Amino acid sequence: MNAPEVRRHDDADVLVGDVASALLDRIEAAQARGETPDIGLTGGSIAEELHRELARRAVDSSVDWSRVRFWWGDERFVPADSPDRNAGQARAALLDHVSVDPANVHEVPASDQVATAEDAAKAYSTALREHGAGFFEVLMLGIGPDGHCASLFPDHPALDARDAIAVAVHDSPKPPPDRVSLTFEAMERCRAVWFIASGEGKAEAVARALADDGSVAETPARGVRGDETVWWLDEAAASALP
Ligand code: 6PG
Repeated sequence: MNAPEVRRHDDADVLVGDVASALLDRIEAAQARGETPDIGLTGGSIAEELHRELARRAVDSSVDWSRVRFWWGDERFVPADSPDRNAGQARAALLDHVSVDPANVHEVPASDQVATAEDAAKAYSTALREHGAGFFEVLMLGIGPDGHCASLFPDHPALDARDAIAVAVHDSPKPPPDRVSLTFEAMERCRAVWFIASGEGKAEAVARALADDGSVAETPARGVRGDETVWWLDEAAASALP
């Protein structure tokens, strides 16, 4: 486990541009090694900006999109065509604009496809397990003003999930209430975890996540400690760091 790395950027546009370049480089490098990289997408507003930027840059990049596998760090348990779906957002902003192989897009099952969020978590875990142990080349995550990441919220029972890859989440303080999230255990198996945060509203949570001490129950983003954890921040989100 290495100490998290912090990369600061002047503003949200520069931040999104840098993350997009770094992600495209990383995918190209993996493909040059003959791999089909697994990328974990996230929900939220900064992720949507990133997906749009990736779609804009796709034309000039040499990424072979049909050789990228897409997964999600978390998903909202709503019908497949709901505008609240993280997968729907990623499709509209990115996946519909590049030539992905549909067999490589691994969505968490929706509420009109399986009965419960527990069933969705189980099916998603099975898909990940069948796929292999290494999990993602890069998992992208946002952070909430309360310190949540993916759908792991402060003082929530889902934080304690053990021996699990994905967990059902109910009573989420961020709507919608029912969700599916990767667990810390799964996140730690990713080659890299990239947090992306923009805006003053995230500053306190970012500072708590990166502080030397503090609790994971209070700030779940503290619980993600992989081999390579990078915090991509704009100056506003970094403003409470020492
Ligand atoms: C979701 C998320 C969530 C999100 C953060 C940051 O499903 O809502 O995956 O963890 O990434 O809440 O979202 P914003 O960028 O919108 O603040």
